[in-house]
Amino acid sequence: MDIHIETERLLIRELQSSDDQGMFELDSDAEVMRYIGRKPVESIEESREVIAFVRQQYEANGIGRWAVIEKETGDFLGWVGFKLIQELTNNHINFYDFGYRFVRRSWGRGFATEASIASLHFGKKELKLPDIYAMTDVNNGASRHILEKLGFQLLETFRFERNPGWRTDDDLEATWYKLADGLYAS
Ligand SMILES: CC(C)(COP(=O)(O)OP(=O)(O)OC[C@H]1O[C@@H](n2cnc3c(N)ncnc32)[C@H](O)[C@@H]1OP(=O)(O)O)[C@@H](O)C(=O)NCCC(=O)NCCS
Repeated sequence: MDIHIETERLLIRELQSSDDQGMFELDSDAEVMRYIGRKPVESIEESREVIAFVRQQYEANGIGRWAVIEKETGDFLGWVGFKLIQELTNNHINFYDFGYRFVRRSWGRGFATEASIASLHFGKKELKLPDIYAMTDVNNGASRHILEKLGFQLLETFRFERNPGWRTDDDLEATWYKLADGLYAS
């Protein structure tokens, strides 16, 4: 499905191979990756692999994280949206995870909130997604604040076990949120 979602300031569309510089700016920034439990990427080749991996998810699952572009400038700002998680995570499997990640120079301007509201409406109303979950580091204050503002309810915290491919030093103490029933559906 070719996604095209517009908000006042943003365009949300599929990630494309031409987003490699933007994805490298995003994922090579240690401050952006601070609460992700994953070391920053070191080469643009790694970012190209991430984009290819997400595009593979579009094919296989019909969904994956989407690129967020600032309409006025055409700038790549980051990504937002849903990922079908197929690994056992906090006793759940085959569920939709909601998330976002934005380049540091764009923080504090309401972009994550604006992109999230539009994506959740699209996910619920158009894609008719069932339960939507979200996870974040317990110390990620900005992300937790946004999730709660969007209508996600904190159900519990859990130990997010290290994925060997992620190269983290420690397991994360993570929050486990679920979107409250009935929101964004109309
Ligand atoms: C988290 C992130 C997406 C926020 O993006 P953003 O565009 O700056 O977010 P917004 O401007 O829409 O909203 C930020 C909100 O958090 C609040 N906030 C910022 N820092 C905060 C903190 N330390 N504790 C609590 N709230 C905080 C802001 O006041 C704002 O709330 P408000 O709109 O009610 O005033 C961005 O910082 C980011 O990409 N971080 C790195 C990746 C990441 O952590 N992703 C989430 C992992 S699940």
